[in-house]
Amino acid sequence: MTDKKAESIVQDFGSLAPVRIGLSAEVRAKSVRALNRLLAHTMAMRDSYKKAHWQTAGATFYELHLLFDKHYGEQAALMDSIAERIQTLGGVTIALPGDVVSESSIARAPRGRESARAQLDRLANGHETVLLDARPLAREASDAGDDGTNDLIVSEVVRTNELQCWFIVQHLSRHSELGDLPSADPSA
Ligand SMILES: [Fe+2]
Repeated sequence: MTDKKAESIVQDFGSLAPVRIGLSAEVRAKSVRALNRLLAHTMAMRDSYKKAHWQTAGATFYELHLLFDKHYGEQAALMDSIAERIQTLGGVTIALPGDVVSESSIARAPRGRESARAQLDRLANGHETVLLDARPLAREASDAGDDGTNDLIVSEVVRTNELQCWFIVQHLSRHSELGDLPSADPSA
């Protein structure tokens, strides 16, 4: 009996399709793995922003409601750029929520509604997680000669997350309506 499910798959996850962009299969495979990890983070950030958009409350409700949705849209656009780069390299993207949960720690937020401060703190942590992963992956792509992947990670992933993180962290500053953040440095 023929396995109908197996028959419908035209490319297995983790395999590479032949493409003609002048990069070896080894280099492309490495970039696809790196980009799928960043794609999982980006999908998790996208969904974290929509959750925050829906669930925020308090004196800064309207401002945060709008800001969170703006960042959601930017993360969705970034997700598309990363996914299409993976396909350009001949790879197969992750795409479904289960894949995101297994690939990114950012996806494991509580179901409950958090305070505005906790939302902002969680989003800033998420951005930092993406950035800590993205910069070394960009350098590895550059060292391997995959300039397109390096450019995407630096110009889009790093820049978008750094800028969004700046907007988020400004709400947690000393004179914010939301109050002070506990300082990481006891001498500060
Ligand atoms: Fe909305």
